[in-house]
Amino acid sequence: MKLATAPEHRAAGRILAVASGKGGVGKTAISTGLARAFSQLGERVLLVDGDLGMANVDVQLGLNPSSDIASVINGTVSLEKAVCPAFGGAPERGGFDVISGRSGSGALANLSGPSLTKLAAGTAALALSYDRAILDLAAGADRSTLRLALAADDVMIVLNDEPTSLTDAYAFVKSLRLQDDGAAPLVVVNNTPNRAAAHDAFSAFKKTCESFLSFTPVLAGIVQRDDTIPAAIRAQTLVAIRSPQSGASRDLDALAGTLARGKEAA
Ligand SMILES: Nc1ncnc2c1ncn2[C@@H]1O[C@H](COP(=O)(O)OP(=O)(O)O)[C@@H](O)[C@H]1O
Ligand SMILES: [Mg+2]
Repeated sequence: MKLATAPEHRAAGRILAVASGKGGVGKTAISTGLARAFSQLGERVLLVDGDLGMANVDVQLGLNPSSDIASVINGTVSLEKAVCPAFGGAPERGGFDVISGRSGSGALANLSGPSLTKLAAGTAALALSYDRAILDLAAGADRSTLRLALAADDVMIVLNDEPTSLTDAYAFVKSLRLQDDGAAPLVVVNNTPNRAAAHDAFSAFKKTCESFLSFTPVLAGIVQRDDTIPAAIRAQTLVAIRSPQSGASRDLDALAGTLARGKEAA
């Protein structure tokens, strides 16, 4: 398992890619929540919207970025210049920097190989100015998404208890490991009716991975179903700001703590 070491030994620029098989499982909600939670732990955080087809980090956070990843790819601005501060930006406890995507710019989903390589290398270089970069990926296992996931130090796959989420997550892991047989994505189970359902979903996923991929995934955490998440998205803010005492907010803090300490969930 590749996980971050203790904060005092942490290498700068560690990239965590947040992936899923199926769309709508909560990747963006978890990515934004983790960006906040890692920042609260004292890390300088960069959040990159890597959903090149249907970007929406900026919309969930109510940002109005003056430039975005599309401008970077077409050469109008550098990656550094596309950074937009959220909640005070990376220097603030609780704030972080964001590189937004461009909502609805489907053309970006079919980037050429060299453009993707440049984007992945540029992100890794920029990440070195931070303690951690979080890459919110598109659903599925298309070429661009796999390429960005392979550039990350850690990949975390989000699933829920729907059978389609499990089969699609399995397909993603299979594709990832075809490209890199050492890839060992962590798992977070989100938005299940209760913790037993989350553990059942993880067990089913683990069993399939063990049977067909000879790979045992690690459960990094569970984020409970909680109406404070859609309510925060509707208010274009973070659940940790709008509802800091909510179960989901506490789960996100616990997940960040687990990832930062480099331990699997209990
Ligand atoms: N833990 C949760 N509890 C309740 N609703 C959730 C939870 N996580 C995500 N959602 C809802 O699911 C929807 C999809 O979330 P989103 O983060 O946009 O998914 P993705 O980025 O994977 O497409 C949103 O409407 C969000 O409010
Ligand atoms: Mg998303």
